[in-house]
Amino acid sequence: MINKIPQHLISELLEKTDIINFISSRISVKKKGKNYYALCPFHQEKTPSFIVNQKKQFYYCFGCNAHGNVIDFLMNYEHLNFVESIETLSILHKYNILYYKTNPTNTNNAYEKRNKLFSLMKTITDIYKQNITTNKNNEAYIYLINRGLNPQIINEFSIGFAPKEWNYISKNITINKTNQQELIDSGILIENNQGYTYDRFRNRIIFPIKDNFGRISGFGARNLNNNKPKYINSPETSIFHKSKQLYGFYEMKKKYSRPNKLLIVEGYIDVITLVQFNIFYAVASLGTSITSEHIQLLFRTTNNIIYCYDGDQSGTKAAWRTLKISLPYITDGKSIKFVFLPHNEDPDTIIRQEGKIAFENRINQATDLSIFFFKKLLHNIDLSSIEDRSYLSAKAIPLINLIPGETMRIYLKQILGNKLGIPDINQLETLFFKYKKIKENKNITPIKQTKMRILIALLIQNPHLVAVIPSIKILKKVQVKGLTLFIQLVETCIKHKTLNTGQILELYRNTHELTILVKLATWDHMITDNQVKNVFLDILTNIYNSILETRHNFLINKERKIGLNNNEKYELWSINKKLAKT
Ligand code: GTP
Ligand code: MN
Repeated sequence: MINKIPQHLISELLEKTDIINFISSRISVKKKGKNYYALCPFHQEKTPSFIVNQKKQFYYCFGCNAHGNVIDFLMNYEHLNFVESIETLSILHKYNILYYKTNPTNTNNAYEKRNKLFSLMKTITDIYKQNITTNKNNEAYIYLINRGLNPQIINEFSIGFAPKEWNYISKNITINKTNQQELIDSGILIENNQGYTYDRFRNRIIFPIKDNFGRISGFGARNLNNNKPKYINSPETSIFHKSKQLYGFYEMKKKYSRPNKLLIVEGYIDVITLVQFNIFYAVASLGTSITSEHIQLLFRTTNNIIYCYDGDQSGTKAAWRTLKISLPYITDGKSIKFVFLPHNEDPDTIIRQEGKIAFENRINQATDLSIFFFKKLLHNIDLSSIEDRSYLSAKAIPLINLIPGETMRIYLKQILGNKLGIPDINQLETLFFKYKKIKENKNITPIKQTKMRILIALLIQNPHLVAVIPSIKILKKVQVKGLTLFIQLVETCIKHKTLNTGQILELYRNTHELTILVKLATWDHMITDNQVKNVFLDILTNIYNSILETRHNFLINKERKIGLNNNEKYELWSINKKLAKT
């Protein structure tokens, strides 16, 4: 599956994406010397050990050994798989990667499969949408208008209607074997035990859900009557991931590339109504609770997340759950807050009653993390009781320790200290469970310097050095540890002349050699830039000579024992000549 996207396209996408620009638009990096440094996004740390190297087009972290090129960064930072990462880059550079088919008859291409599902979702969206736009007397349209949505917003969000029929889809598109399977794969049709298919969505308002690039990836669907379940959603598919996607995210991003706050609401209708009231910074989860992946996506987009919940018991419970899963992502500068609406209200109903200004006042007065945190924990706690106080600390301390941001952590500890009657933060500290030390990375064992390793390291770090290497023909005749890898690397560098380190390592994805090559690519060999070429040539000559000598001895020996053929005689002669020069 992985190799279906042509390697030259992958190299090209890497060529076009400067790793410094790419990473610095996501995390903050500082230039120091040749390198750019950042706090590693893949583990908690206080001093930067994450290095991005422009020349190598490669990043690595001395703390946790995270490393890779832009593709790896996307996979790890945005939790994408390989194909999705390539897609992201191709969209960024406006490539149509369908154009780069390796084999036109090959329908097994993971990318093409996904693309077909996306285009199918669009077709289905249009079918459902037509029911609303062409017949204004239909009950779905009337329902939406009665709920206060205006025609523009219905159109903008491509809201549609799936009639009360079991086979509406098959009546509206020609079904063949291929698209039938795609319709099942994308969750539009359901196949029963007997192999018959029927429509998943019947008598429901359809809310198409867009992914971060604006492609329709799934549907939310609301019942027109009060039967349960009120909402159903598309199932998880290869393009629809409920735990990662957010409703309204794409629309929000069209307005703000970096919003200074985001409001997280519960329903599709809430997002839509807020947009109708010109509030463009709201998004909703897709009928599931907020996940840590959502939170990471939100914090990659903004520093301030405001969660909006119903103020009743179940809303508080959901908010507390959200708070707990948000704690590990609160680094310094990031904040979470909570808005609790009056019982039985949601953003849709309340903004219609109060209007935009009053609603935004609620957002501006959102409850701070610290307030909600202690309000919840102090519920039913009697601070004059020693038992209650120790119960409180046992509850609060492990949660506070989840927060990576020092400012917030110290602040919460201080509040806790005051409540417990231990104002001295140092004294309180002894109560705290020992911080889990970041596990020292076992992978970072120092590399033993051998000539061959230095040679490979210098070449992978400076692929242009391949130009100074004389013929490698002779090298192929002997066996020296590491030589095979070196020869392979030389051939790779010759074949792909202009590649940088990140691109070359890409060619080794999923191979056994990758680990050692990454080690050597990130190895700080302490050779200064202006010495690199000389050292490389020195070592190379040295290795060449010892190989020549070995070969020389071998040939001499053979000559004594059984004699040499003409080729071998010529070889011995030319080796003698070469050795005489040195
Ligand atoms: P309206 O009643 O149309 O205003 O919808 P709402 O958004 O106010 O619904 P509610 O507050 O009940 O639910 C919020 C969100 O939870 C919805 O937008 C759905 O995504 C999801 N949801 C609600 N009911 C169900 C259900 O029965 N099943 C599933 N899977 N999700 C639901
Ligand atoms: Mn509602």
